[in-house]
Amino acid sequence: MRSPIKRIALSTGGGDAPGLNAVIRAATLAARNRDWDVLGIRDGFNGLLFPEQYPDGGLIQLTRDRVRGIVHLGGTIIGTTNIGNPIAYPVQQSDGTWIEVDRSEELLARFEEHRIDALITIGGDGTMGIARHLHEAGLRVVGVPKTIDNDLDKTVATFGFDSAVEFASECIDRLFSTAASHGRIIVVEVMGRYAGWIALNAGMASGAHVILIPEIPYRLEPVSALITERARRGAKFSIVCVAEGARPVGGEVSIVGKAVGQAERLGGVGAKLTAELAQMTGREARTVVLGHLLRGGSPTSFDRLLGLRFGAAAVRALDAGHNGVMVALDPPTVNYVPLAEATHRQKTVPLDCDSILTARDMGICLGDEMPTHTAIGP
Ligand code: F6P
Repeated sequence: MRSPIKRIALSTGGGDAPGLNAVIRAATLAARNRDWDVLGIRDGFNGLLFPEQYPDGGLIQLTRDRVRGIVHLGGTIIGTTNIGNPIAYPVQQSDGTWIEVDRSEELLARFEEHRIDALITIGGDGTMGIARHLHEAGLRVVGVPKTIDNDLDKTVATFGFDSAVEFASECIDRLFSTAASHGRIIVVEVMGRYAGWIALNAGMASGAHVILIPEIPYRLEPVSALITERARRGAKFSIVCVAEGARPVGGEVSIVGKAVGQAERLGGVGAKLTAELAQMTGREARTVVLGHLLRGGSPTSFDRLLGLRFGAAAVRALDAGHNGVMVALDPPTVNYVPLAEATHRQKTVPLDCDSILTARDMGICLGDEMPTHTAIGP
């Protein structure tokens, strides 16, 4: 039988996503209503690992006042990082080489020192992996899934995704008029890592003519054939929505670089495609990279609500004695799934899903074949 909870900590890890502050607010209020003390750890776990680097000691007391009026704000009021994985912390040695050090013992000791009885950690697959490790090492943990990429398994949705899709769709809507006025190809590159959810959903919602996703390696021939056919029929412009993780058949994903202790950074496929399509079609082409714009700004009401539901559900989970679980959207409810299951695999776009079938039915080119009918003409 574990001791009753008196104090919990919240942390946000990995890339930020609209909706994080909604989780922080709901979890704080639900915890305060149970008379639990709530601490926010700054910048993932850095606030606990490097307290000397923060004027406030790396921990923020989360009170009702502190979480008032934050639901509509992007980002996270407690900060985040995608560098400081405490299980594999990058440390440079005297000869300049880097090693990864497991600092989880040290981290657990800090939880004890601060008499923190349980952790609610909000993040993507990396954070859920850390949560699982800390849970197995003895910490009481509940995970809350977050990512604009929507690639976390065992939850129907993560907050941040809807806001990213909404904004990307709006940007593509805007690109239509300028592309049409100039008769240009515009290639829009969107984030999403190795999953094509953002590209597929935003591309479909805004009427892109070509959508390229990591799950379907593309060939240039059907893409340029579609663009040329559209021009022949009078539509001299085309919009291509490409996921940053898309790659050509037999080719590699475009990587910008990789810093020590970080996942590799994807990017560049949009510019590459633009040059190739301009050359193959003889048409003018431009690239727009939406990048981090997809992570900023105010969350949609869907993401706010999902964040609030997840935050309160995480506190209810702890109160009910759950441990080592992730809250998950399982409509119409929010469920709890073991962290071990949640971190098992990445959720990518199934090739037979309804959206893919719809895109094909509508004559959208997915890069593997020239659609049998295009969206123009009789
Ligand atoms: O996982 C969220 C995400 O925005 C990805 O879509 C993108 O590849 C990555 O993070 C970018 O990370 P960073 O903020 O380190 O550039």
